[in-house]
Amino acid sequence: MRLDGKVAVITGGGSGIGAATARAFTREGARVVIADINEKSGDAVAREIRATGGVIDFLHADASDPAEIERVITFATDTHGTLDVLHNNHVAFEPGRIGDLTLDGFRRSLDVGLTAYWYAIKCALVPMLAQGKGAIVNTASVSGLAGDYGLGAYNVLKAGVVNLARVTGIEYARKGIRCNAVCPGPIGTPPIDRLHDAAPQIWEDIRGAIPMGRYGRAEEIANVVLFLASDEAAFVTGTHVVADGGLWAHSGMPPIGGLGPDF
Ligand SMILES: NC(=O)c1ccc[n+]([C@@H]2O[C@H](COP(=O)([O-])OP(=O)(O)OC[C@H]3O[C@@H](n4cnc5c(N)ncnc54)[C@H](O)[C@@H]3O)[C@@H](O)[C@H]2O)c1
Repeated sequence: MRLDGKVAVITGGGSGIGAATARAFTREGARVVIADINEKSGDAVAREIRATGGVIDFLHADASDPAEIERVITFATDTHGTLDVLHNNHVAFEPGRIGDLTLDGFRRSLDVGLTAYWYAIKCALVPMLAQGKGAIVNTASVSGLAGDYGLGAYNVLKAGVVNLARVTGIEYARKGIRCNAVCPGPIGTPPIDRLHDAAPQIWEDIRGAIPMGRYGRAEEIANVVLFLASDEAAFVTGTHVVADGGLWAHSGMPPIGGLGPDF
């Protein structure tokens, strides 16, 4: 098993990519602690995984509250004796054009989506440095590598998440601790499904812009996180892996002479 005996904390583990990662990690032998503000879904994910024999605890916690993430990491180390993997994954942000964002909304977006990732890393480094090893994976986004219309706060915080992985990766490389980011494109998780239902045509257009012609699945991102968290990625640090069906590889130019992806 690829994470046999390892202990992992996943923020936002009650849904979507975090829940898929919890399934992948436990399947591969890790003991997992998921933290989520949604008690119902977090509890449901933990029950489902336990029913399949996985070792998992759910903590109802706000990962953007320093005291709460300290509690989550202390729970993992007290319960399992150590911490090997941190997957920073939760998010919340204010949508809107740059000129329309509110000061509180912009600050809160960075607080939840970026500062909280840094603080969780700071906390996780304590047990990881003590044992001389560890792996950290941040969920970023292709939206951290380029801009989107109307998602400025998200673009800025995810760009920070990518660079947080770089600097953490280089600073702790000689301490046995790796840090990387995964950059998904559009993935069929509950928030995307809700947006799709509210505005089907826009989301059909987005789907059409993805060279593979489909959204990704949460499991496909979990597989990347699993790789980055495992010893298979022993020489991979301070970087990001894009998993987006080819979206980010496209310049944005429309097909010339009808030579599009459908042929
Ligand atoms: N779905 C996509 O298309 C997509 C694309 C690129 C990146 N991402 C990133 O993937 C990550 C997961 O997104 P998802 O699509 O699986 O979303 P999701 O809504 O399915 O899951 C996110 C979970 O985070 C929890 N959460 C939110 N704020 C929290 C907090 N302060 N503390 C603890 N938990 C909190 C939510 O309750 C939810 O269960 C996010 O970082 C998102 O930006 C998603």
